[in-house]
Amino acid sequence: MKTRVLTGITTTGTPHLGNYVGAIRPAVAASWRDDVDAFYFMADYHALIKSDDPARIERSRLEIAATWLAAGLDPQRVTFYRQSDIPEIPELTWFLTCVTAKGLLNRAHAYKAAVDKNTESGEDADAGITAGLYMYPVLMAADILAFNANKVPVGRDQIQHIEMARDIAQRFNHIYGREFFALPEAVIEEQVATLPGLDGRKMSKSYDNTIPLFSGGQKQLRETIMRIVTDSRPPGEAKDPDSSSLFTIFRAFASEAESEAFRAALVNGIGWGEAKQVLFERIEVDVAPMRDSYDALMARPGVIEEILQEGARKARAIAAPKIAELRDAIGLRSGVAVAPQAGVAKAASKSGKMPRFASFRDADGSFRFRLFSADGEELLLSKSFVDPKAAGVLQKRIKELGATSAVVQVQPLSLVLELDGEHVAATPDYDGEHARDEALTRLRSALDQLAAQE
Ligand code: TRP
Repeated sequence: MKTRVLTGITTTGTPHLGNYVGAIRPAVAASWRDDVDAFYFMADYHALIKSDDPARIERSRLEIAATWLAAGLDPQRVTFYRQSDIPEIPELTWFLTCVTAKGLLNRAHAYKAAVDKNTESGEDADAGITAGLYMYPVLMAADILAFNANKVPVGRDQIQHIEMARDIAQRFNHIYGREFFALPEAVIEEQVATLPGLDGRKMSKSYDNTIPLFSGGQKQLRETIMRIVTDSRPPGEAKDPDSSSLFTIFRAFASEAESEAFRAALVNGIGWGEAKQVLFERIEVDVAPMRDSYDALMARPGVIEEILQEGARKARAIAAPKIAELRDAIGLRSGVAVAPQAGVAKAASKSGKMPRFASFRDADGSFRFRLFSADGEELLLSKSFVDPKAAGVLQKRIKELGATSAVVQVQPLSLVLELDGEHVAATPDYDGEHARDEALTRLRSALDQLAAQE
């Protein structure tokens, strides 16, 4: 049994070294394991909550997709897609919204922080807060639950969201009485480094202290590394590796032996400028080849688009049957497929008001049957059989079919019932499309009545 691992990246920014080391690199590595079935996606619906700049969203979606591919993600092996290409996700979001306690969402960290900020500055508690921000955890739960993901690798700031997804899943399972959803677990990779940014705080676009991964190329990477804040010790004076951002970043790329050598150089008083050059060159060893693929991909967005469309097909092949199952469970069956309640079917059958079959022998000696509606209207005439038993078998199968699984071909003036790709029965000819369509509704409801009685 493979573990289904799923994670998303919100498409508002340009990937930086911290994203690569903290999320992309470990996720790509996990995707190569044989016991992992990985689902990675661009959370572009989530991006709309944070940004209303269409150009930025569009650019970021492309950059992030190209980054994952350049970092070694194999789209054959992984299900790699954009959230907004999966209409089942917003549909599931609504189903989940209707079982989610409002109080649960009131307690979400991001929402609470926004409310606290408003309250502190004497504003109305909800000033400037969209319903999108409020609903963020439900959309995220849908991302995860639509695919029954088991493990969700995220940063610490997202743990609460995974717990909420579990809560919501449990509540849905409880209300509708079945284990529709697996309960997801957050995975926090302890060994994965959190990189410091230019100012020594955690590298994050919200602190504006990031080192870009690919954008701006080699030149930009070098220039940004040269801006990492250090202390003022001159060349020749010993540096403390363990309090140096340079060393922390270096270690995230280097082997144990390389790191020890760099540590020794710092202790022995290497100048900060020179140390930054060493760091730049080490990062370049890993990043340069990926940058080449990144640039090649960014030059051909059509290739990325094709990969994502294929990913969306793979993802929907899983999400669509899931949603169909849920629709059915919560009472949103398609109109024509509504089976009468068991009681109704039984009552109808007691009063003799049920669709029924009538077998007969043709002039040429072969066997056929008709299906009549409860009102006695002829609905179907079967093909002919030499063996009456075969006609009986077909009647039995039609009884079990139900409108949902019945394949009814619509002809210009009639309807044809198909089983295993073969025409097995047809309606009489009707005198217009409208009459034919009405007959289709009656035929479907008769099939459902028969199936309900079985
Ligand atoms: N909220 C996540 C973040 O900002 C991104 C995300 C959206 C996500 N949907 C998800 C992560 C589902 C994991 C699973 O980091």
